[in-house]
Amino acid sequence: MKDISQNKNVAGPIGIFDSGYGGLTIYREIQELLPQYNYLYLGDNARTPYGTRSFGVVYEFTRQCVKYLFSQGCHLVILACNTASAKALRSIQQIDLPAISSQKRVLGIIRPTVETIGDITQSRHVGVLATEGTIKSNSYPLEIQKLFPDIVVTGEACPMWVPLVETCEHKSPGADYFIKRHVDNLLSRDSQIDTIILGCTHYPMLIEKIKQYVPQGVKVLTQGAAVAASLKNYLARHPEMDTLCAKEGNRVFCTTESDSRFCEQASRFLEQHIDVQHVTLD
Ligand code: DGL
Repeated sequence: MKDISQNKNVAGPIGIFDSGYGGLTIYREIQELLPQYNYLYLGDNARTPYGTRSFGVVYEFTRQCVKYLFSQGCHLVILACNTASAKALRSIQQIDLPAISSQKRVLGIIRPTVETIGDITQSRHVGVLATEGTIKSNSYPLEIQKLFPDIVVTGEACPMWVPLVETCEHKSPGADYFIKRHVDNLLSRDSQIDTIILGCTHYPMLIEKIKQYVPQGVKVLTQGAAVAASLKNYLARHPEMDTLCAKEGNRVFCTTESDSRFCEQASRFLEQHIDVQHVTLD
């Protein structure tokens, strides 16, 4: 792929990054709401999952992926990964971006998700299902506390759920055991929960099974629509960035793993054939 990083004022695609397939659940909603933009998706499938890795490793991997997307002409990158948003976003914004370019931006997905829940929960008891990294970072309780101090948050780490998706086992009967176990754990710790945030972008791929084990009346929230609406709002408020986002409706998908495997899995999920390129990161 051509390195066009030198073309500082040439409009480029919006970069969407995840450790693997999960970010496709965010990409799908974004491109539905904002079809006119060009998108470049990067899945770091070769190194997934990120959720069980240390802060330093998630930061380093995410930084490499963001730099790759910048090198391909992106000016704006969405970390469509909660683990990366929780563990790497702030360091990238504060340490890396000032050294790379004053024009480039990286946005996360935890804040836009949290902003929606104040109007959704009535009991003011919210559950978060996410990776071990996201739960241990405490990012959801901290962000929710800032906006809605009356909401009680309980988190449950689900370390097997991302591997189930990445190995395409998420629809198999064996997946039910791990899904039920974590839903039950969460609800046994706070029976007043009326809203569960799926705080990992892979989890919407498990939503049919998750809903089977969630009692009626408890809402299960995915993030895609909130992130897409927030991006639309961001671009409207930042016309200088909007002009740097190309609008020819192009989509390019890249993976650090096998392109044929990504193509098969992603095409099935997106219900359309996509072309995929294998990339190597520095
Ligand atoms: N999809 C990601 C998230 O939202 C990461 C999963 C992982 O690699 O563990 O957290």
